[in-house]
Amino acid sequence: MRVFVAGASGAIGSRLVPQLIAHGHEVIGTFRSPANAERVRALGAQPVALDLLDAPAVRRAVLDAGPEAIIHQATALADVRFGRSLDRAFGPTNRLRTEGTDALLAAAREAGVRRFVAQSFASYRYAREGGPVKTEEDPLDPHPPATAIKTNAAMRHLDEAVTEAGGVALRYGGFYGASDDGLVKPVRKRQFPVIGDGGGISSFIHLDDAAAATVLALECDVSGVYNVTDDEPAPMRDWLPALAAALGAKPPRHVPPWLARLIAGRGAVMMAAGSRGASNAKARRDLGWTLRYPSWRQGFPATYGATARAGGRTSHLVTDVPGHDQAR
Ligand SMILES: NC(=O)c1ccc[n+]([C@@H]2O[C@H](COP(=O)([O-])OP(=O)(O)OC[C@H]3O[C@@H](n4cnc5c(N)ncnc54)[C@H](OP(=O)(O)O)[C@@H]3O)[C@@H](O)[C@H]2O)c1
Repeated sequence: MRVFVAGASGAIGSRLVPQLIAHGHEVIGTFRSPANAERVRALGAQPVALDLLDAPAVRRAVLDAGPEAIIHQATALADVRFGRSLDRAFGPTNRLRTEGTDALLAAAREAGVRRFVAQSFASYRYAREGGPVKTEEDPLDPHPPATAIKTNAAMRHLDEAVTEAGGVALRYGGFYGASDDGLVKPVRKRQFPVIGDGGGISSFIHLDDAAAATVLALECDVSGVYNVTDDEPAPMRDWLPALAAALGAKPPRHVPPWLARLIAGRGAVMMAAGSRGASNAKARRDLGWTLRYPSWRQGFPATYGATARAGGRTSHLVTDVPGHDQAR
């Protein structure tokens, strides 16, 4: 297929493009930062500069490319400081998930594009009630914290707009697998503590496994929402010490919820402490997806072991895409 990947230069996009090409697809890959044109080309795609918030430019780019499929992986979270307000940190990403998605869908309709797959997110979204692991059929949190209302609404918009158009919304777990994963620095600096009893559940996914599921979602004749997470949703008290150990860092600190509320805000603590994990059963069944890293228990050491042995330098990551760091 001729595939238009929006956000080809990013964390997931740069894992996805080589897998698409290995499956025989032809890829047109968009980037935002001018320095990333060569990076997209080196991955094997035809690079196209595009701001997804410029709807006329999106229309032109899609009509010019004439793709059979579109994959939307554009977000703006690199280098973001996560403070007390998630809505502030996610502001630009929320626009990419609403206005950007709408512009791509409109262009897809006009260009007669048959397949549409988009990045959504699983963690911290399901209702904080009942069992620890949720399927796509389970309700989303009807009362997200005040500081994350717009962020949750943007993800819900993407899920609904994409699936109503007959596409696939992939609710990925927390990404890991690269030297600049968001959690690496704070865990290494012991700035990411276990809160209370650490019972909130997280779901993770290695970037390579996320890319593999995305290729299958493109190729299989499916539509709807899919959780793309590993087999082992786990409480923070289990995965966070394992991540610190894989990084060769000291064990995480433990803080009581009242102190975490003062530092990170009520919303972040409410979400972290009450969060539910996501089941990947539907993606495994419908897509025939198998994981290279079925659990973060294998994935964290495989990803960060070389870094830890190199004394914290990140240039020797075993699963890094060549040129990833240099391009940033
Ligand atoms: N994805 C998530 O939900 C999430 C959540 C929490 C933390 N993180 C962390 O955030 C870091 C990665 O950030 P990321 O997920 O945003 O990926 P990223 O690696 O920054 O990639 C995002 C992609 O979207 C493109 N893009 C950005 N703004 C755009 C715009 N206005 N129009 C069109 N394309 C645009 C980027 O282009 P250029 O790179 O060329 O500018 C890039 O191709 C990782 O450390 C990850 O762990 C991600």
